[in-house]
Amino acid sequence: MRLDSLTIRQVRNLSDVSITPNPEVNIFYGANASGKTAILESIYLLSKARSFRTAHIKEVIQHKQEYLTVSALINTQENKTVSTGLKKSGKETEIRYNGERVKAVSEQAKNVVVQTANPENTTLLTGSPKDRRKWIDWAMFHVEHDYLQVWHSYHRALRNRNALLRRGAKEDEYYVWESTMADTAKDLKSRWQKYLDCLQQYYQETAAEHACAGVTFSARKDKQKNDEFLEHLQTTRSSDIKAGFTQQGPHKADFDFKVEGRHIGTIFSRGQIKLFIILLSIAQAKLLKNERGVTPIFLADDLTAELDKKTVNMLLDLLYEERMQLFITTTDPGEIIKTNQESSLFHVEQGHVKNVRIDTENNA
Ligand SMILES: Nc1ncnc2c1ncn2[C@@H]1O[C@H](COP(=O)(O)OP(=O)(O)O)[C@@H](O)[C@H]1O
Ligand SMILES: [Mg+2]
Repeated sequence: MRLDSLTIRQVRNLSDVSITPNPEVNIFYGANASGKTAILESIYLLSKARSFRTAHIKEVIQHKQEYLTVSALINTQENKTVSTGLKKSGKETEIRYNGERVKAVSEQAKNVVVQTANPENTTLLTGSPKDRRKWIDWAMFHVEHDYLQVWHSYHRALRNRNALLRRGAKEDEYYVWESTMADTAKDLKSRWQKYLDCLQQYYQETAAEHACAGVTFSARKDKQKNDEFLEHLQTTRSSDIKAGFTQQGPHKADFDFKVEGRHIGTIFSRGQIKLFIILLSIAQAKLLKNERGVTPIFLADDLTAELDKKTVNMLLDLLYEERMQLFITTTDPGEIIKTNQESSLFHVEQGHVKNVRIDTENNA
């Protein structure tokens, strides 16, 4: 899918920006703090109704304004043109797609499928297990449409069991929730396993012989086996009652990214971590495309920072090969423009965006 037009209002320093993106490559360049990342943030907002930079939408809405809007014409996977828009204030989110109100944010994420390679987003490696669970939930949701349903059943059963634990319910009240938890936990874990195996393959194919190849992806093993989770819940009940919540299960899961048995978060350099995050995003995009037939819109923020020329070129080749619509920001466009690639160049200056002609002689 791709964006055929994009209008952004009142997002950070972007008061009113309208652009006609190139179907393939879009490069945004400009000085620091000119608003480049805010453009990608806006596209992400249109898809996920939240920012990738902050959980507080007030920080994103332009100062002194009540709300922000992002709207676009989308060329869908089925090659139809559909209009969509998001209006978000501190209190309310209104999403429209094809003239209809979209009630669930998760629906919109399927309408506008966006894959980000946000190198700042190292929380996958350096953050908490919760960050990694969030990562896998979003990733899986795009690949398996009924994932969310299983996820909800598990979490509903978990909430109910926790409520029973806290009010000291009778023994026989637990079974219904614990058995649901056991069934859905098994389902979730086998989906994770399948997804991670598949993603690892795509990753290794993408990273090929580059420095970051050889990373293995896995869900951290629980002490008990899958089939023993029901039993485990029953035997740990009294300890869970003391704790006041369910202490183990998929809601506490964690995921490992390792090279030769060691966590890459602890052994990779900053540059390697950045490269890993981008390669992983490309692998996720490839997986979506090949396994689900959905070509995401790809956002790469500050692509050239901290990476050497050769690495940047290698990444660009990988990205161009997938023929996704790309939105790339950089302070150094000369590094990105390839004369053989259909692309548009936009200059961003103090919240204003101008489409500029690419001068292939001088590389912009
Ligand atoms: N809520 C806001 N209202 C207005 N301006 C903002 C707001 N939040 C951030 N800014 C400004 O918007 C710009 C955003 O820049 P950013 O997108 O991060 O730039 P770049 O990626 O080009 O470095 C900065 O100049 C910042 O000061
Ligand atoms: Mg930026």
